[in-house]
Amino acid sequence: MEAFHRRADQLYCEDVPLSSLAKRFGTPAYVYSQTAILERFGRLARHLAGLRSLICYSVKANSNLKILDFLRRAGAGFDVVSGGELLRVLRVGAKPQTIVFSGVGKTAAEVDAGIRAGIRMFNVESAEELELIEERARALQKPAWISVRINPDVAAETHPYVATGRVVHKFGVPKEEALALYTRAAGSKHLKVRGVACHIGSQILKVEPFMRALDEVLHVAERLLAVGIEVEDLDLGGGYGIRYVDEPGFDFDRLTRETAARLAAAPYRLIVEPGRSLVGEAGVLLTRVLYVKRSQQKNFVVVDAGMNDLLRPALYGSYHAIVPVEERAGEKILADIVGPLCETGDFLARDRELPAARAGDLLAVLAAGAYGYVLASNYNSRPRPPEVLVRAGTAELIRRRESLEDLMAGEESPSRRTARGVTRPRGRRRKSPAAKPRRPARRKNP
Ligand code: LLP
Repeated sequence: MEAFHRRADQLYCEDVPLSSLAKRFGTPAYVYSQTAILERFGRLARHLAGLRSLICYSVKANSNLKILDFLRRAGAGFDVVSGGELLRVLRVGAKPQTIVFSGVGKTAAEVDAGIRAGIRMFNVESAEELELIEERARALQKPAWISVRINPDVAAETHPYVATGRVVHKFGVPKEEALALYTRAAGSKHLKVRGVACHIGSQILKVEPFMRALDEVLHVAERLLAVGIEVEDLDLGGGYGIRYVDEPGFDFDRLTRETAARLAAAPYRLIVEPGRSLVGEAGVLLTRVLYVKRSQQKNFVVVDAGMNDLLRPALYGSYHAIVPVEERAGEKILADIVGPLCETGDFLARDRELPAARAGDLLAVLAAGAYGYVLASNYNSRPRPPEVLVRAGTAELIRRRESLEDLMAGEESPSRRTARGVTRPRGRRRKSPAAKPRRPARRKNP
């Protein structure tokens, strides 16, 4: 069963009508299907079953603790890119040996946190980072395990902002330099070599670029072996594309068939870091129409979700299908679906054909489970929406909607707010004159 499907005129998430969720949790709101996420995880795990492998879910796609927790229970490891993501996965009980730490700008504090936790490996992205990791491992008297992320110089057909595998991109290091880094690491008392890593980009729909990247990674592993450096893991990153418009599904059969053929004679463990392909199609953003506006040239459907809630259309020009939650017969219109923020770039869709919408109608923005909530911001002082998880017939609030007070929480300390909104430093609290009139000062004796 598709996670989001229609029964009569109603759109459902699993067995729950989305209109009932809008009533209960308000809009805008993210809604995810647990079954759909676990189905996608299970499908990938079955594909990889014949290989020594570890699926490290890429936390950046959707980092809600509840989702991390049930993925861990299903057997996932994690790919993290910050101290914050590391803390999240440790909080849900991830085994350190299932955690890989990627990213070009790891700080000393983040490296310390990773070494202390005993993570599987840091995917190193520069000579200077390797120096820092060695220095911190020496200081902490605990070895650090590393892979070097190579830049395979493989082109992947995707949006330029999410392609990472060419030499012009900031990610990884060229093969020759990687070999020098491995020699350096192998000679260090504090560093241990775990594997070879790469990641070529995101929303890639073809298998071929992954195979070219795997060939590059294998080549590095073989050259290392020739100089006596053995690696255990080959980390191929993530990037499997999903359906936003009418893309063909990613061919996991072919991916695993061709990967298995290449790894048949090799003893390596394959690590993959899928993000979007596990959660993207398993989530929607629910939003309500506020106004319908007509200018001479265009129709605008103004909804209560904006670019602060879902940034992808504004940032990448991404297409998300948008459908009515309750279908109604009637004419169709061509409209821009726009948010309430004061930016022309604040749109969810442009020139989209949809059933004539009226104020109060509910819409669902599809395939919003990946890079949706995690990219949300408070721009225009807008609280971020709640996240709701559906499993069979039940819905659970897995992150509450931010309140207006939340928005100011970090700005007011150490002052205290008074009833009249005036702030005073702590410890110098005076009774408000309004609450108790001050007695006139005693007149001094003449
Ligand atoms: N591993 C590494 C090292 C990555 O940088 C990424 C994504 C992944 C794994 C997961 O890739 P996925 O399987 O999700 O494609 N905000 C953009 C996507 C940015 C992807 C960044 N890196 C978007 O909304 O399309």
